[in-house]
Amino acid sequence: MTAEWYETAFDKLYPILYAHRNEAEATAALETYEVFLQEGQPVLDLASGSGRYLNILVAKGYPAVGVDLSHFLLRTSLEVFDLGGRVAQGDMRRIPFVTGAFGSVINMFTSFGYFSVDTDNLLVFEEVHRILKEGGVFLFDFINAEKISRDLLDHTHREANGYNIDERRTIENRGKYLVKRAVVTNVETGDRKEIVERLRLYTRRDLFTMLDSVRMEVSEIFGDYAANPFVDGVSDRVVLVARKK
Ligand SMILES: C[S@@+](CC[C@H](N)C(=O)[O-])C[C@H]1O[C@@H](n2cnc3c(N)ncnc32)[C@H](O)[C@@H]1O
Repeated sequence: MTAEWYETAFDKLYPILYAHRNEAEATAALETYEVFLQEGQPVLDLASGSGRYLNILVAKGYPAVGVDLSHFLLRTSLEVFDLGGRVAQGDMRRIPFVTGAFGSVINMFTSFGYFSVDTDNLLVFEEVHRILKEGGVFLFDFINAEKISRDLLDHTHREANGYNIDERRTIENRGKYLVKRAVVTNVETGDRKEIVERLRLYTRRDLFTMLDSVRMEVSEIFGDYAANPFVDGVSDRVVLVARKK
């Protein structure tokens, strides 16, 4: 059986492809959005990746933990940051924590929409609802699908940290998926690897409907990491604050 794209994409080359998604960005975003987290309550960083958000939460004294599927990124997060082992390996469709364990859940930088059937993506929101306490908060940061579809950069090329990165993007299945194929070449050795990402392009309206269907009420929406208002088709991000009903 061939592996799903999200089982292979988040490995050694991920930090090279996304070097610009760094700790400074996470620090700025949390400075803006920490105000919505439940004070002193446990926080889950769902899809914690290399730990850039989790590290800040732990340093601020939250009883925070991270869950991620990628062994490589989990190991990196433990090596780079002093997380006290506060990570668990798991799939976001079956979050390995008990019902009502968290005051807040964060899901940052497009860590959603990875599954090829909509019911699996919805299952992630159902799981978030399950593991939150009554009134618990979900901070959710997704790509603005309408903007991406309108202003698609179909081909980009850059050099970073000794690698040539050639990225081609297509919108497939009548606007439903963004598929990115990156060819990463080590300039010195010539080694090449292709990394494919396939993201379900849920619009702001789709996300509201999905969250409502799992009894999560959206109370705030912003368009970037500085809490600027969300503008359809213009904002880079869809940042939602939702509460468990
Ligand atoms: C775009 S990265 C974002 C990581 C982190 N939130 C950040 O902002 O740096 C997406 C993350 O989702 C994780 N992931 C992919 N599929 C997953 C799954 N089925 N369950 C849990 N995590 C998954 C990847 O390993 C990766 O760390």
